[in-house]
Amino acid sequence: MKALVKERAEPGLWLVDVPEPEVGPGEVKIRVLRTGICGTDLHIRKYDDWARNTLQLPLIVGHEFCGHVVEVAPGVEDIAVGDLVSGEGHIVCGKCRNCMAGRRHLCRNTVGLGVNRDGAFAEYVTLPASNVWVHRLAIDPDIAAIFDPFGNAVHTALSFPLVGEDVLITGAGPIGLMAAAVATHVGARNVMITDVSDERLDLARKLGVSLALNVATSSIDEGMRRLGLREGFDVGLEMSGNPTAVRQMIASMTHGGKIAMLGLPAEQFAIDWATVVTSMITIKGIYGREMYETWYNMSVLLEKGLDLSPVITDRFSYRDFDAAFDTAASGRTGKVILDWSGGARPERASTEPTEAEAAATMNRSA
Ligand SMILES: NC(=O)c1ccc[n+]([C@@H]2O[C@H](COP(=O)([O-])OP(=O)(O)OC[C@H]3O[C@@H](n4cnc5c(N)ncnc54)[C@H](O)[C@@H]3O)[C@@H](O)[C@H]2O)c1
Ligand SMILES: [Zn+2]
Ligand SMILES: [Zn+2]
Repeated sequence: MKALVKERAEPGLWLVDVPEPEVGPGEVKIRVLRTGICGTDLHIRKYDDWARNTLQLPLIVGHEFCGHVVEVAPGVEDIAVGDLVSGEGHIVCGKCRNCMAGRRHLCRNTVGLGVNRDGAFAEYVTLPASNVWVHRLAIDPDIAAIFDPFGNAVHTALSFPLVGEDVLITGAGPIGLMAAAVATHVGARNVMITDVSDERLDLARKLGVSLALNVATSSIDEGMRRLGLREGFDVGLEMSGNPTAVRQMIASMTHGGKIAMLGLPAEQFAIDWATVVTSMITIKGIYGREMYETWYNMSVLLEKGLDLSPVITDRFSYRDFDAAFDTAASGRTGKVILDWSGGARPERASTEPTEAEAAATMNRSA
Protein backbone atom coordinates (compact mmCIF):
# COMPACT_ATOMS: atom_id res chain seq x y z
CA MET A 1 0.00 0.00 0.00
CA LYS A 2 0.97 3.66 -0.34
CA ALA A 3 1.98 5.46 2.85
CA LEU A 4 3.54 8.78 3.82
CA VAL A 5 6.63 7.80 5.76
CA LYS A 6 9.25 9.67 7.77
CA GLU A 7 12.06 7.51 6.48
CA ARG A 8 15.18 9.51 7.18
CA ALA A 9 16.41 11.76 9.99
CA GLU A 10 16.16 14.92 7.87
CA PRO A 11 13.41 17.32 6.74
CA GLY A 12 10.81 15.77 4.43
CA LEU A 13 8.27 12.97 4.06
CA TRP A 14 8.31 10.22 1.47
CA LEU A 15 5.39 8.55 -0.31
CA VAL A 16 6.44 4.90 -0.51
CA ASP A 17 5.07 1.37 -0.84
CA VAL A 18 4.93 -0.50 2.46
CA PRO A 19 3.27 -3.77 3.52
CA GLU A 20 -0.37 -3.49 4.59
CA PRO A 21 -0.76 -3.66 8.38
CA GLU A 22 -2.23 -6.86 9.82
CA VAL A 23 -5.10 -6.91 12.28
CA GLY A 24 -3.87 -7.82 15.77
CA PRO A 25 -6.04 -9.18 18.61
CA GLY A 26 -8.87 -6.78 19.43
CA GLU A 27 -8.05 -4.58 16.45
CA VAL A 28 -9.85 -3.19 13.43
CA LYS A 29 -8.41 -2.58 9.95
CA ILE A 30 -9.58 0.53 8.15
CA ARG A 31 -9.34 1.67 4.51
CA VAL A 32 -8.43 5.33 4.94
CA LEU A 33 -10.59 7.78 2.98
CA ARG A 34 -9.52 11.24 4.14
CA THR A 35 -6.91 12.62 6.52
CA GLY A 36 -6.35 16.02 8.12
CA ILE A 37 -2.94 17.65 8.36
CA CYS A 38 -2.10 18.68 11.93
CA GLY A 39 0.62 20.94 13.34
CA THR A 40 2.24 17.76 14.69
CA ASP A 41 2.62 16.43 11.14
CA LEU A 42 4.27 19.72 10.13
CA HIS A 43 6.76 19.35 13.00
CA ILE A 44 7.51 15.80 11.83
CA ARG A 45 8.04 16.87 8.22
CA LYS A 46 10.28 19.75 9.32
CA TYR A 47 12.14 17.42 11.71
CA ASP A 48 12.54 20.02 14.46
CA ASP A 49 14.01 19.39 17.92
CA TRP A 50 10.75 17.92 19.24
CA ALA A 51 10.56 15.46 16.31
CA ARG A 52 14.26 14.59 16.62
CA ASN A 53 13.83 13.79 20.33
CA THR A 54 10.49 11.97 20.03
CA LEU A 55 10.35 9.82 16.90
CA GLN A 56 11.68 6.35 16.12
CA LEU A 57 12.19 6.06 12.34
CA PRO A 58 10.88 4.86 9.98
CA LEU A 59 7.35 5.96 10.88
CA ILE A 60 4.07 6.27 8.97
CA VAL A 61 2.81 9.69 10.05
CA GLY A 62 -0.69 11.08 10.58
CA HIS A 63 -3.46 10.73 13.15
CA GLU A 64 -6.46 12.69 11.86
CA PHE A 65 -8.48 10.39 9.60
CA CYS A 66 -11.66 8.64 8.68
CA GLY A 67 -12.24 5.51 6.65
CA HIS A 68 -14.28 2.38 6.16
CA VAL A 69 -13.75 -0.74 8.24
CA VAL A 70 -12.51 -3.62 6.07
CA GLU A 71 -11.69 -6.22 8.74
CA VAL A 72 -12.38 -6.81 12.44
CA ALA A 73 -10.50 -9.21 14.71
CA PRO A 74 -12.47 -12.13 16.16
CA GLY A 75 -14.41 -11.10 19.26
CA VAL A 76 -14.71 -7.41 18.34
CA GLU A 77 -18.34 -6.37 18.79
CA ASP A 78 -20.44 -3.46 17.52
CA ILE A 79 -18.07 -2.58 14.66
CA ALA A 80 -18.85 -4.03 11.25
CA VAL A 81 -17.12 -4.17 7.88
CA GLY A 82 -18.29 -1.13 5.90
CA ASP A 83 -18.78 1.17 8.91
CA LEU A 84 -17.52 4.72 8.40
CA VAL A 85 -15.25 5.43 11.37
CA SER A 86 -12.90 8.03 12.81
CA GLY A 87 -10.02 7.12 15.09
CA GLU A 88 -9.05 8.27 18.57
CA GLY A 89 -5.28 8.64 18.14
CA HIS A 90 -4.41 8.36 21.84
CA ILE A 91 -3.97 4.67 22.62
CA VAL A 92 -4.15 4.21 26.38
CA CYS A 93 -2.71 1.47 28.58
CA GLY A 94 -5.96 0.35 30.24
CA LYS A 95 -4.02 -0.54 33.41
CA CYS A 96 -2.95 2.65 35.20
CA ARG A 97 -5.05 4.16 38.00
CA ASN A 98 -6.78 6.68 35.73
CA CYS A 99 -7.54 4.12 33.03
CA MET A 100 -8.92 1.72 35.63
CA ALA A 101 -11.14 4.51 36.96
CA GLY A 102 -12.50 5.24 33.47
CA ARG A 103 -10.50 8.47 33.09
CA ARG A 104 -8.73 7.25 29.99
CA HIS A 105 -7.83 10.72 28.72
CA LEU A 106 -5.62 11.03 31.83
CA CYS A 107 -3.62 7.86 31.10
CA ARG A 108 0.08 8.30 31.94
CA ASN A 109 1.18 5.83 29.27
CA THR A 110 -0.58 7.19 26.19
CA VAL A 111 0.83 6.04 22.83
CA GLY A 112 0.23 8.46 19.96
CA LEU A 113 -0.89 7.23 16.53
CA GLY A 114 1.46 8.59 13.87
CA VAL A 115 3.95 9.63 16.57
CA ASN A 116 4.77 6.59 18.70
CA ARG A 117 3.29 3.99 16.35
CA ASP A 118 2.54 3.84 12.62
CA GLY A 119 -0.18 6.31 11.69
CA ALA A 120 -3.01 6.94 9.28
CA PHE A 121 -1.45 8.73 6.29
CA ALA A 122 -1.69 5.49 4.36
CA GLU A 123 -4.22 3.45 2.43
CA TYR A 124 -4.81 1.22 5.48
CA VAL A 125 -4.40 1.62 9.24
CA THR A 126 -5.11 -0.69 12.16
CA LEU A 127 -6.34 0.46 15.57
CA PRO A 128 -7.60 -1.16 18.78
CA ALA A 129 -11.39 -1.50 18.48
CA SER A 130 -11.68 0.64 21.63
CA ASN A 131 -10.12 3.55 19.66
CA VAL A 132 -12.66 3.45 16.85
CA TRP A 133 -15.64 5.84 16.72
CA VAL A 134 -18.41 4.61 14.43
CA HIS A 135 -20.47 7.29 12.66
CA ARG A 136 -24.04 6.09 13.07
CA LEU A 137 -25.51 9.03 11.13
CA ALA A 138 -24.56 10.27 7.66
CA ILE A 139 -21.58 12.61 7.80
CA ASP A 140 -19.35 14.38 5.27
CA PRO A 141 -16.11 12.33 5.23
CA ASP A 142 -14.08 15.56 5.26
CA ILE A 143 -15.65 16.42 8.64
CA ALA A 144 -15.28 12.82 9.88
CA ALA A 145 -11.57 13.10 9.04
CA ILE A 146 -11.04 15.96 11.51
CA PHE A 147 -12.77 14.53 14.58
CA ASP A 148 -9.40 14.51 16.38
CA PRO A 149 -8.83 18.32 16.29
CA PHE A 150 -12.60 18.95 16.44
CA GLY A 151 -12.43 16.95 19.66
CA ASN A 152 -9.64 19.18 20.96
CA ALA A 153 -11.90 22.15 20.29
CA VAL A 154 -14.98 20.56 21.88
CA HIS A 155 -13.07 19.27 24.92
CA THR A 156 -11.69 22.78 25.51
CA ALA A 157 -14.88 24.70 24.72
CA LEU A 158 -17.09 22.51 26.92
CA SER A 159 -14.67 22.56 29.89
CA PHE A 160 -16.61 25.41 31.46
CA PRO A 161 -20.28 26.44 31.06
CA LEU A 162 -20.62 28.90 28.17
CA VAL A 163 -24.33 29.71 28.08
CA GLY A 164 -24.75 33.48 28.24
CA GLU A 165 -21.03 34.01 28.89
CA ASP A 166 -18.55 36.34 27.22
CA VAL A 167 -15.83 34.16 25.69
CA LEU A 168 -12.35 35.12 24.50
CA ILE A 169 -10.59 32.72 22.12
CA THR A 170 -6.93 33.47 21.39
CA GLY A 171 -5.75 31.90 18.11
CA ALA A 172 -7.91 31.36 15.00
CA GLY A 173 -6.09 28.28 13.70
CA PRO A 174 -8.27 25.32 12.73
CA ILE A 175 -8.87 24.40 16.37
CA GLY A 176 -9.61 27.96 17.54
CA LEU A 177 -12.04 28.32 14.63
CA MET A 178 -13.87 25.12 15.58
CA ALA A 179 -13.98 26.20 19.24
CA ALA A 180 -15.52 29.51 18.14
CA ALA A 181 -18.18 27.65 16.15
CA VAL A 182 -18.95 25.47 19.18
CA ALA A 183 -19.09 28.38 21.65
CA THR A 184 -21.46 30.29 19.38
CA HIS A 185 -23.60 27.19 18.76
CA VAL A 186 -24.04 26.36 22.46
CA GLY A 187 -25.17 29.86 23.40
CA ALA A 188 -22.28 32.05 24.51
CA ARG A 189 -23.31 35.73 24.57
CA ASN A 190 -20.18 37.15 22.93
CA VAL A 191 -17.43 35.17 21.22
CA MET A 192 -14.37 37.29 20.47
CA ILE A 193 -11.54 35.55 18.64
CA THR A 194 -8.07 36.97 18.11
CA ASP A 195 -5.23 36.19 15.71
CA VAL A 196 -2.57 37.99 13.72
CA SER A 197 -3.70 36.48 10.38
CA ASP A 198 -6.42 38.40 8.53
CA GLU A 199 -7.22 35.34 6.39
CA ARG A 200 -7.98 33.26 9.47
CA LEU A 201 -9.99 36.07 11.08
CA ASP A 202 -12.08 36.21 7.88
CA LEU A 203 -12.80 32.49 8.31
CA ALA A 204 -13.90 33.20 11.89
CA ARG A 205 -16.35 35.84 10.61
CA LYS A 206 -17.91 33.19 8.34
CA LEU A 207 -18.53 31.12 11.48
CA GLY A 208 -20.57 33.94 13.01
CA VAL A 209 -18.34 35.14 15.86
CA SER A 210 -19.26 38.43 17.57
CA LEU A 211 -15.84 39.94 16.84
CA ALA A 212 -12.71 38.72 15.04
CA LEU A 213 -9.85 40.95 16.17
CA ASN A 214 -6.37 41.27 14.72
CA VAL A 215 -4.14 41.78 17.76
CA ALA A 216 -1.29 42.99 15.56
CA THR A 217 -3.28 46.17 14.92
CA SER A 218 -5.93 46.36 17.71
CA SER A 219 -5.79 45.79 21.45
CA ILE A 220 -7.99 43.39 23.38
CA ASP A 221 -9.25 46.38 25.39
CA GLU A 222 -10.43 47.93 22.14
CA GLY A 223 -12.28 44.71 21.29
CA MET A 224 -13.92 44.72 24.72
CA ARG A 225 -15.06 48.31 24.19
CA ARG A 226 -16.52 47.40 20.81
CA LEU A 227 -18.50 44.58 22.42
CA GLY A 228 -19.57 46.78 25.33
CA LEU A 229 -17.84 44.59 27.93
CA ARG A 230 -16.99 46.39 31.16
CA GLU A 231 -15.80 43.66 33.51
CA GLY A 232 -13.77 41.32 31.32
CA PHE A 233 -14.31 37.89 29.80
CA ASP A 234 -15.96 35.09 31.76
CA VAL A 235 -14.28 32.23 29.90
CA GLY A 236 -11.01 32.11 27.93
CA LEU A 237 -10.08 29.39 25.44
CA GLU A 238 -6.36 29.60 24.69
CA MET A 239 -5.69 28.16 21.24
CA SER A 240 -2.43 29.78 20.14
CA GLY A 241 0.31 28.60 22.49
CA ASN A 242 1.66 32.15 22.20
CA PRO A 243 3.01 33.70 25.46
CA THR A 244 1.71 37.19 24.61
CA ALA A 245 -1.76 35.78 23.95
CA VAL A 246 -1.73 33.96 27.29
CA ARG A 247 -0.63 37.06 29.19
CA GLN A 248 -3.24 39.22 27.45
CA MET A 249 -5.92 36.67 28.20
CA ILE A 250 -5.08 36.60 31.91
CA ALA A 251 -5.18 40.41 31.95
CA SER A 252 -8.61 40.48 30.24
CA MET A 253 -10.54 38.04 32.45
CA THR A 254 -13.23 39.03 34.91
CA HIS A 255 -12.73 38.10 38.57
CA GLY A 256 -13.40 34.38 38.92
CA GLY A 257 -12.81 33.89 35.19
CA LYS A 258 -12.05 30.42 33.81
CA ILE A 259 -9.33 29.65 31.27
CA ALA A 260 -9.07 26.37 29.36
CA MET A 261 -5.63 26.09 27.77
CA LEU A 262 -5.14 23.88 24.73
CA GLY A 263 -2.37 25.92 23.04
CA LEU A 264 0.96 24.22 23.54
CA PRO A 265 3.76 26.75 24.21
CA ALA A 266 7.11 25.83 22.68
CA GLU A 267 8.99 27.03 25.77
CA GLN A 268 8.48 28.04 29.38
CA PHE A 269 7.46 31.65 29.98
CA ALA A 270 6.42 33.91 32.85
CA ILE A 271 2.85 35.04 33.53
CA ASP A 272 1.40 37.54 36.00
CA TRP A 273 0.64 35.14 38.86
CA ALA A 274 -0.46 38.00 41.12
CA THR A 275 -3.39 38.66 38.78
CA VAL A 276 -4.23 34.94 38.63
CA VAL A 277 -4.34 34.92 42.44
CA THR A 278 -6.12 38.19 43.15
CA SER A 279 -8.62 37.77 40.29
CA MET A 280 -9.09 34.15 41.42
CA ILE A 281 -8.68 32.82 37.89
CA THR A 282 -8.92 29.09 37.19
CA ILE A 283 -6.52 27.76 34.52
CA LYS A 284 -7.17 24.24 33.25
CA GLY A 285 -4.82 22.41 30.87
CA ILE A 286 -6.48 20.37 28.13
CA TYR A 287 -4.88 17.46 26.31
CA GLY A 288 -6.60 15.42 23.64
CA ARG A 289 -10.21 14.38 23.98
CA GLU A 290 -12.22 12.74 26.76
CA MET A 291 -12.82 9.12 25.87
CA TYR A 292 -15.53 9.05 24.84
CA GLU A 293 -17.64 11.84 26.21
CA THR A 294 -16.03 14.38 23.87
CA TRP A 295 -16.72 12.06 20.91
CA TYR A 296 -20.35 11.78 21.93
CA ASN A 297 -20.55 15.57 22.22
CA MET A 298 -19.03 16.02 18.75
CA SER A 299 -21.48 13.71 17.04
CA VAL A 300 -24.42 15.28 18.86
CA LEU A 301 -23.33 18.87 18.08
CA LEU A 302 -23.18 18.00 14.37
CA GLU A 303 -26.52 16.23 14.61
CA LYS A 304 -27.99 19.44 16.05
CA GLY A 305 -26.77 21.56 13.16
CA LEU A 306 -23.26 22.75 14.07
CA ASP A 307 -21.69 23.70 10.72
CA LEU A 308 -17.92 23.21 10.50
CA SER A 309 -17.72 23.37 6.71
CA PRO A 310 -16.08 26.86 6.56
CA VAL A 311 -13.17 25.47 8.63
CA ILE A 312 -12.06 23.15 5.79
CA THR A 313 -10.46 25.36 3.14
CA ASP A 314 -8.18 23.11 1.07
CA ARG A 315 -8.34 19.59 -0.35
CA PHE A 316 -5.56 17.64 -2.07
CA SER A 317 -4.95 14.13 -3.34
CA TYR A 318 -2.44 12.31 -1.10
CA ARG A 319 -0.14 12.26 -4.14
CA ASP A 320 0.17 16.05 -3.84
CA PHE A 321 1.10 15.85 -0.16
CA ASP A 322 4.01 18.28 -0.42
CA ALA A 323 1.75 21.05 -1.78
CA ALA A 324 -0.82 20.19 0.89
CA PHE A 325 1.77 20.41 3.67
CA ASP A 326 3.08 23.73 2.29
CA THR A 327 -0.48 25.07 2.32
CA ALA A 328 -1.03 23.94 5.92
CA ALA A 329 2.33 25.41 6.95
CA SER A 330 1.44 28.82 5.48
CA GLY A 331 -0.61 29.57 8.62
CA ARG A 332 -3.23 31.37 6.52
CA THR A 333 -5.71 28.56 5.83
CA GLY A 334 -8.22 26.52 7.74
CA LYS A 335 -7.98 22.74 7.77
CA VAL A 336 -6.19 21.01 4.88
CA ILE A 337 -7.55 17.58 3.86
CA LEU A 338 -5.77 14.79 1.99
CA ASP A 339 -7.91 12.39 -0.06
CA TRP A 340 -6.71 8.77 0.02
CA SER A 341 -9.65 7.29 -1.85
CA GLY A 342 -8.03 7.25 -5.30
CA GLY A 343 -6.40 9.56 -7.80
CA ALA A 344 -6.49 13.35 -7.86
CA ARG A 345 -9.84 14.77 -6.85
CA PRO A 346 -10.84 18.33 -7.73
CA GLU A 347 -13.13 20.42 -5.50
CA ARG A 348 -16.45 18.65 -5.47
CA ALA A 349 -19.78 18.64 -3.71
CA SER A 350 -19.29 16.95 -0.35
CA THR A 351 -22.32 14.75 -0.91
CA GLU A 352 -21.00 13.20 -4.11
CA PRO A 353 -19.37 9.85 -3.18
CA THR A 354 -15.93 8.99 -4.52
CA GLU A 355 -15.37 5.59 -6.12
CA ALA A 356 -14.05 4.03 -2.91
CA GLU A 357 -16.97 5.39 -0.89
CA ALA A 358 -19.46 4.07 -3.40
CA ALA A 359 -17.71 0.68 -3.34
CA ALA A 360 -17.72 0.59 0.46
CA THR A 361 -21.41 1.47 0.54
CA MET A 362 -22.13 -1.34 -1.90
CA ASN A 363 -20.12 -3.80 0.24
CA ARG A 364 -22.14 -2.77 3.20
CA SER A 365 -25.54 -3.33 1.65
CA ALA A 366 -24.39 -6.61 0.09
N1 LIG B 1 -3.34 20.16 24.04
C1 LIG B 1 -3.61 19.40 22.98
O1 LIG B 1 -4.07 18.26 23.09
C2 LIG B 1 -3.37 19.95 21.62
C3 LIG B 1 -3.78 19.24 20.48
C4 LIG B 1 -3.62 19.84 19.24
C5 LIG B 1 -3.06 21.10 19.14
N2 LIG B 1 -2.65 21.75 20.27
C6 LIG B 1 -2.14 23.12 20.24
O2 LIG B 1 -3.29 23.97 20.14
C7 LIG B 1 -2.96 25.16 19.43
C8 LIG B 1 -3.95 25.36 18.29
O3 LIG B 1 -3.81 24.36 17.30
P1 LIG B 1 -3.98 24.74 15.77
O4 LIG B 1 -3.75 23.50 14.98
O5 LIG B 1 -5.23 25.51 15.56
O6 LIG B 1 -2.68 25.68 15.66
P2 LIG B 1 -2.23 26.83 14.67
O7 LIG B 1 -0.79 27.02 14.88
O8 LIG B 1 -2.73 26.55 13.28
O9 LIG B 1 -3.01 28.12 15.20
C9 LIG B 1 -2.51 28.98 16.18
C10 LIG B 1 -2.93 30.39 15.78
O10 LIG B 1 -2.53 31.30 16.81
C11 LIG B 1 -2.23 32.51 16.18
N3 LIG B 1 -1.49 33.42 17.05
C12 LIG B 1 -0.14 33.61 17.17
N4 LIG B 1 0.12 34.59 18.05
C13 LIG B 1 -1.07 35.02 18.52
C14 LIG B 1 -1.45 36.03 19.46
N5 LIG B 1 -0.55 36.76 20.12
N6 LIG B 1 -2.76 36.19 19.70
C15 LIG B 1 -3.70 35.45 19.06
N7 LIG B 1 -3.38 34.50 18.16
C16 LIG B 1 -2.09 34.30 17.90
C17 LIG B 1 -1.46 32.08 14.93
O11 LIG B 1 -1.42 33.11 13.96
C18 LIG B 1 -2.28 30.87 14.48
O12 LIG B 1 -3.27 31.21 13.53
C19 LIG B 1 -1.50 25.00 19.02
O13 LIG B 1 -0.70 25.64 19.99
C20 LIG B 1 -1.29 23.51 19.07
O14 LIG B 1 0.08 23.17 19.32
C21 LIG B 1 -2.80 21.22 21.50
ZN1 LIG C 1 -3.86 16.56 15.22
ZN1 LIG D 1 -3.44 4.13 31.40
